Amino acid sequence: MSKKEFSRTLVTSALPYTNGPIHIGHLAGAYLPADMYVRYLRLNQQDVVYVCGSDEFGVAIVMQAMEQKIRPQDVIDRYHPMIKQSFEAFGMSFDHYGRTSNKLHTQTSQAFFQCLADKNEFVLRREEQLFDPVAKVFLADRFVSGTCPKCSYEHAFGDQCEKCGATLSPTEIVNPRSTLTDAVPELRATTHWYLPLGKWQSRLEEYVANHPEWKPNVLGQIGSWLSDGLRDRAITRDVQWGVTVPEEAAKAAGVDVKGKVIYVWFDAPIGYISSTREWAIKKGEPNLWKLYWQNDTTRLIHFIGKDNIVFHTLMFPAMLMAHEGYIIPDQVPANEFLNIEGSKLSTSRGWAVWLHEYLEDFPPDLLRYVLATILPESKDSDFNWHEFQTRVNSELADILGNFVNRSLTFAEREFDNTVPSLSELSESDQHTLQELKTLPQKIGEAYTQFRFREAVRLTMNLARLGNKYFNDQVPWVTRKSNRSQCANTIHISLQICAALSIVMDPVLPFSAHKLREMLRLDGVISSMPEPDSSHSLVWNDAGACPLTAGHKLGEKSILFQKITDDQIQKQMGKLKATNSKLPSSSIEIKPEIQYDDFAKMDLRTGIIRTAEPVPKSKKLLKLQVDIGDETRQILAGVAEHFQTEDIIGQSVVIVANLAPRKMMGLESQGMVLMAEDKEGRLSLVSADTAPGSIVS
Ligand code: MF3
Ligand code: ZN
Repeated sequence: MSKKEFSRTLVTSALPYTNGPIHIGHLAGAYLPADMYVRYLRLNQQDVVYVCGSDEFGVAIVMQAMEQKIRPQDVIDRYHPMIKQSFEAFGMSFDHYGRTSNKLHTQTSQAFFQCLADKNEFVLRREEQLFDPVAKVFLADRFVSGTCPKCSYEHAFGDQCEKCGATLSPTEIVNPRSTLTDAVPELRATTHWYLPLGKWQSRLEEYVANHPEWKPNVLGQIGSWLSDGLRDRAITRDVQWGVTVPEEAAKAAGVDVKGKVIYVWFDAPIGYISSTREWAIKKGEPNLWKLYWQNDTTRLIHFIGKDNIVFHTLMFPAMLMAHEGYIIPDQVPANEFLNIEGSKLSTSRGWAVWLHEYLEDFPPDLLRYVLATILPESKDSDFNWHEFQTRVNSELADILGNFVNRSLTFAEREFDNTVPSLSELSESDQHTLQELKTLPQKIGEAYTQFRFREAVRLTMNLARLGNKYFNDQVPWVTRKSNRSQCANTIHISLQICAALSIVMDPVLPFSAHKLREMLRLDGVISSMPEPDSSHSLVWNDAGACPLTAGHKLGEKSILFQKITDDQIQKQMGKLKATNSKLPSSSIEIKPEIQYDDFAKMDLRTGIIRTAEPVPKSKKLLKLQVDIGDETRQILAGVAEHFQTEDIIGQSVVIVANLAPRKMMGLESQGMVLMAEDKEGRLSLVSADTAPGSIVS
């Protein structure tokens, strides 16, 4: 918890690169939790501004352009609108969504840079850098690939190794190659601006020490950076695409400004500032941004994914400290990564669920809800389509939707579609009202502490409470036997519905709105930007029974449609279809062997004549494999993949000279070759030749 009292909050989500569409990994990392958080704050009538925008510079975008033989500008003009629209349809409630190719961003970044140059906060260095002799350009960041000096992975990039996560510079790469031309780079001297982070080490240590409340995953990463000691970081590049270094600074340094741009990780976080400036202009108060950036009663919160931690907790704060006059981030709730169906999300392999495609098939709230229940808050988590179906059907539809539906149906049939009045409360009525009062507070606490999964679990508990109460009260019996008790039951159930329509809003904004319409519960402050504060109901009213007796209810409709098996099959098919198109690069080739090593292996073709389970073993099948001159007994660990009848008669390739081994008391005289795909599915390697043929 923060020790300080703040008067307003500025929330940001990492600016997404415009080199591809948004996928659910992005959403679970930096976007959905931030949106839930700001919606919660707005429902509490807090002063909050939420900004984001597209991150449009950097080598990743140039590479994308080259692959598609178009200009970087074409790449960003394709993805920026697409990202913006899909965010909107998903219910991301930014006060402003900008883009770093906007002029105001160039001006803001250049002014920031110039200020640091004037204050002598940079060091200039002339150093040997990698140069592509064919393309005649310096090779920054991802323009270089080669072997990682830390882990020997052979496809590391000049800025980062995607295998071990090390941050690298191009000159550290072993056996570097140009990703532009595949040429072996030469060394050439060039001048760059560096931000001496070492100078800020102790101030940054103090800053981090003042935030023991930061998440352990965040503190852990920062700790290792700080203990390694912070080094100078080059913040300019010799590339064509980016914010050019301000001429004044270049002139003063005696450097030709042509082709010198500011490093994308220097300009992008300034994008938060320029986006806030655009918001202020849009509001007609161009100076208002200063209140959010230059006044220390503002709380600055950055929502990011774990790969962005160092930039937001060390580099950007150092930039802000060096500039002076700015506040620094107070909280950086970074999330870990989201896997899909047990495998690492990978856009290059097509192993991703794309937001714009999802939205063609399902309403946004379903994904918001399911992702919120599995957010990778403290460790990596997994999204899978079957769990998606289960959660939608058995939680949203069967618990929340059902409770709302039965309450409203009862009010309509028995009480003329109005809220019946309360009379003498039973113990169970009182108990339920008590719970109804405390749950919204608990949900609020979870939001305040960035525990979004818990907030959503507690939200659903309110619907569970409602269902249980409704069941226990048997209104379908009391409607005849005890009219006033029945009225109490429906009154309280409707109050729970009203509370739900408020507390479910951060996670399920579209459905919450729909529910408020069904209840004709206007007067709730909206969680969208610029909420109308003349409305009276806010978050805290959720526990205060906002419906009055006699209130006329609206028209009811179904809140959540169930998802069918066919719909899920279709999604699984999409995932597989895109995946199989692209070659895998994730499984490394084993170390090289000599021909002689290979020649020692005796591979033969065979036919499986019999296959039977091995008693007490879940995995093994006992096979008799005919390899021409003899029949081998081979134990293969395939029982979970094949039915015995499916593999009898199949042709296979076996290793015929593998030393015999005993398993489960049986001898195995060889090994059957198999291919395993990404999902762990096995298939037999076969050769359609007579048994006993030699494979070489
Ligand atoms: N574009 C970066 C990424 O996707 C995030 C930039 S965040 C900002 O990893 F702070 F630099 F804006
Ligand atoms: Zn590595």
